[in-house]
Amino acid sequence: MTAPTTARKIIIDTDPGQDDAVALLLALASPEEIEVLGITCVAGNVPLSLTQKNARIICEVAGCADIKVFAGRDAPLSRALVTAEEVHGKTGLDGPDLFEPQMPLQDENGVDFIIQTLRAAPAKTITLCPLGPLSNIAAAFQAAPDIVEKVQEIVFMGGAYFEVGNITPAAEFNIYVDPEAADIVLKSGVQITMMPLDVTHKALTTRARIEALRDLNNRAGIFTAEMLDFFERFDMEKYGSEGGPLHDPCVIAYLIQPELFTGRHINVEIETQSDLTLGMTVADWWRVTDRSPNAMFIGDVDADGFFDLITERLARL
Ligand code: RIB
Ligand code: CA
Repeated sequence: MTAPTTARKIIIDTDPGQDDAVALLLALASPEEIEVLGITCVAGNVPLSLTQKNARIICEVAGCADIKVFAGRDAPLSRALVTAEEVHGKTGLDGPDLFEPQMPLQDENGVDFIIQTLRAAPAKTITLCPLGPLSNIAAAFQAAPDIVEKVQEIVFMGGAYFEVGNITPAAEFNIYVDPEAADIVLKSGVQITMMPLDVTHKALTTRARIEALRDLNNRAGIFTAEMLDFFERFDMEKYGSEGGPLHDPCVIAYLIQPELFTGRHINVEIETQSDLTLGMTVADWWRVTDRSPNAMFIGDVDADGFFDLITERLARL
């Protein structure tokens, strides 16, 4: 009998996106470890009108139509939105047959939900899990500086160093879309764990891994296999890899089985001025500066253990 552990209370901030969708399914399938207080949607892979719809579709695929889903910012703090339909398709969830979700979108704005939820909770009891551009998180910190010290931890997907960028030679998409937001978050003083391309590019789909999900023969498994059949093609063509990187589920898997991951607590700063390297995460991996460490930069994952976890949990839905 394992000792009961209290589930970690989290807010997932997301721009679904097939990989975001798998992260949402993994979280919703893991109530012993994770209590999802709400899902706040942000513009990123596709516009907000689609990310908020896609989040509700995924909640219904998971059989969790009671989860509160909010729409947050429809644009970065101070720049025009850049989207990624070339990766995710026009719907953002290309692959499976989609449907009109029946569950409601909450009236409250996602940024206000983040603020009010943190204000109402005891300090250091809520973890923020951003899976897209950091626009909602930064907007909440700007509007309500008092909540920053209330945050238990931010575990986010974004950035890159040795793996270099995926949207430009220097920058990863989530950071590139809203570098000013990322700068606010990285300088906030909150405990941060980041999942950059350095680790997510080691969490690659393979035919066997996708078929194991399809063979679950439940709605979540089949839906996920169909999403990944579409999602992996872009990176396979671009990198010549065997499969596509399952970026965002690394955030949720870390909350459930942190031992799957390894990293280093280092300083990470964001380029917000240079057009050439805008959105670059300048990671002091070799500690060559005296800049204070501000993030656990995750560099490696047990990929077999990661996919075994996803498959085992999605079997529950
Ligand atoms: O660069 C990968 C990240 O950008 C992932 O979060 C993906 O969903 C997109 O948002
Ligand atoms: Ca995402």
